[in-house]
Amino acid sequence: MIPSQGLQKAMNDQIRKEFESAYLYISMAAWMEDKNLPGFGAWLRQQAREEAKHAMKIFDHLLDRGCRVQLQALGGPPVDFTSPLQVFEEVKKHEQAVTKSIDQLYGMALEAKDYASQVFLGWFITEQVEEERSSSHILESVRRVGDDQAALVMLDRELGQRGSEDAGDEE
Ligand SMILES: [Fe+2]
Ligand SMILES: [Fe+2]
Repeated sequence: MIPSQGLQKAMNDQIRKEFESAYLYISMAAWMEDKNLPGFGAWLRQQAREEAKHAMKIFDHLLDRGCRVQLQALGGPPVDFTSPLQVFEEVKKHEQAVTKSIDQLYGMALEAKDYASQVFLGWFITEQVEEERSSSHILESVRRVGDDQAALVMLDRELGQRGSEDAGDEE
């Protein structure tokens, strides 16, 4: 069974959204590194690599099912941020929007009784739980740091470690 025209279009849109997520996160990484926060930068770079993998997962799935991949223009990401706190507020909001988008795709697959798409999209549903959890977790840490510069440097170091540990991840 081939996904409905509507779902094929929505999956192509989702490829764009995943690449736009990658683009957003490397834009944030650039800002962080410019502010001398290499650990935050490393975490965001790693996050961007994962988003590009998400895009390619959908790319491969469409091709596997005999559908066309039609890449779209990417929207330019914001380049200016006000603080690490604002960056992570945006990360969390962004991940929540992506979850909504994935949920809509899943809803379309359900309605069409398209079981292959449901199984495929199930991975993304689980992944979004993790994405929302980790972005909330970091947002809370940044909030707790407040104006304490020493604590910010400590958190930056901690995130830098996680960034390099995750670098070999499959997802
Ligand atoms: Fe993603
Ligand atoms: Fe994500």
